[in-house]
Amino acid sequence: MTTHDPRHRTATLLVQGGLERSHHGETAEALYLTSGFVYDSAEQAEATFANQVVHYQYSRFGNPTVTMLERRIALIEGAEACRATATGMAAVHAALLSHLKAGDRVVASRALFGSCHWIVSTLLPRYGVTTEFVDGGDMAQWQKALSTPANLVLLESPSNPMLEIVDLKAVADLAHAAGAIVVVDNVFATPLLQKPLELGADVVVYSCTKHIDGQGRVLGGAVLGRQKWVDEVLQPFIRNTGPSISPFNAWLLLKGLETLSLRVRAGCDSAEKVANFLAGQPAIARVWYPTRADHPQRELAMKQMTAGGTLVTFEVKGGKDAAFAVMNAMRLVKVSNNLGDSKSLATHPATTTHLRIGAEERAKLGITDGVIRLSVGLEDPQDIIEDLEGALAALAARRAAE
Ligand SMILES: Cc1ncc(COP(=O)(O)O)c(C=O)c1O
Repeated sequence: MTTHDPRHRTATLLVQGGLERSHHGETAEALYLTSGFVYDSAEQAEATFANQVVHYQYSRFGNPTVTMLERRIALIEGAEACRATATGMAAVHAALLSHLKAGDRVVASRALFGSCHWIVSTLLPRYGVTTEFVDGGDMAQWQKALSTPANLVLLESPSNPMLEIVDLKAVADLAHAAGAIVVVDNVFATPLLQKPLELGADVVVYSCTKHIDGQGRVLGGAVLGRQKWVDEVLQPFIRNTGPSISPFNAWLLLKGLETLSLRVRAGCDSAEKVANFLAGQPAIARVWYPTRADHPQRELAMKQMTAGGTLVTFEVKGGKDAAFAVMNAMRLVKVSNNLGDSKSLATHPATTTHLRIGAEERAKLGITDGVIRLSVGLEDPQDIIEDLEGALAALAARRAAE
C-alpha cells in the first residue's frame, strides 16, 4: 500500500515518498534484511525469471527496502527511475561502465572528486575509451572538446573542493549535439538545491554517504535517469556485476531522507554565515562560496541552484603549515575527509582527497596547499565561528612568537 501522492511537495515526499507498507501496517519503512526470496512453486520461479510475473528474486537485483529508497530518491529528483548502489563510487562507476564501450570518447570537467578523476583518466583508457578533460567553467573549452563526436560527458557542479560552477544547460546542449549523454555528480548541490535533469542532464549520480545519510553512519550511492536507460543499460550491469546496496544501509538512508530538507537548509544558512565571517579575516587569502558576491560564477550559481550549499572553501595565507595549524587548533570542527555530515568537518584536499591527482593537476584546479574545505554541520553557527576565531587567533599568536 503506497501512501504518497506524486503531486505532493518535496518535504512530504522525503518522509512518505515510495513508502510501501506490508500487510502488517508498520509505521516506519520495513527492513527486509534478506539476501533471497522464496517462490510458491517451481513454476512461479520459472515465470519470474522469464519476466512473466513480478517477484523479488535476489537482493543483488532488487529488494523491497532498496526499492522504497530508489522510489523516494527518484520522486525528489524528478527522475523516471533510480538504482541505489553500495557507495557513491559504485554509482559513478556503474553509470559510466554500463554506458561505455571500447572506442568511445568521454569529455569531463577537470574538477572531479579524486576517485572519479581516476576512473576517467586511468581506468577507462585501459578499456579503450579515450578521455579529454576541460576546465569546467570555460565554455570555450567545452565547445572545442564537443565539436568532435563524444559518447559521455561527466561533470560535477559545484565541484569538490573549489566550488566551481558548470553551466549545466549550455554543456548539455553541446553534449547532445555531439552525441553524448550528460552525467552529473550532484553531491555538493544535493537533490534539493539543483535539478540537473531539468537543465538537460541525462543521468544524475549521488554519493548518498554525504547529505542523504548526513549522519556519518553508512555508505551508499544512487544513479538516476530515464526508465529505458535504467532498465536496458544500467540494470543489466548492476545485476551482473553486483555493486548492490545492503537493505540495512538503504533503510538508514530512507531515515536520512526524512530530515534531508531540514538539515540541508540549516547547513546552507550556517555555511553562508561562516563564509562571510572567514572573508573578513586578515589571515584568509580567499573564500569560495557559490552565492557570495565575490564568487566568480555567482550569477550562474544563483540561476541553477536555490542555495549555495553546505560547503565553504577557503585559503589560509602561509600554505600547508598555516592550514594545518588552523585545522589542528580547531576543537569543535574535526579533521576528516568526509563531508555533508551533521558534524562540521575540515579537510585539507591537497594532502588527502586530491593527493593522488598530482601537484600539476591540483595547480590547474587552484587547490593550493593553503586550501581548506569546510563542511558545515548542524552545530550552532556561532559556535563554529568561535571555533574558527580561536584557531585563527592561535595561528596569529604563533606567528607573533616566531
Ligand atoms: C563529489 C563526490 N562524488 C563521489 C564521491 C564518492 O562517494 P562514496 O565515498 O560514497 O563512494 C564523493 C565522496 O567520497 C564525492 O565527494
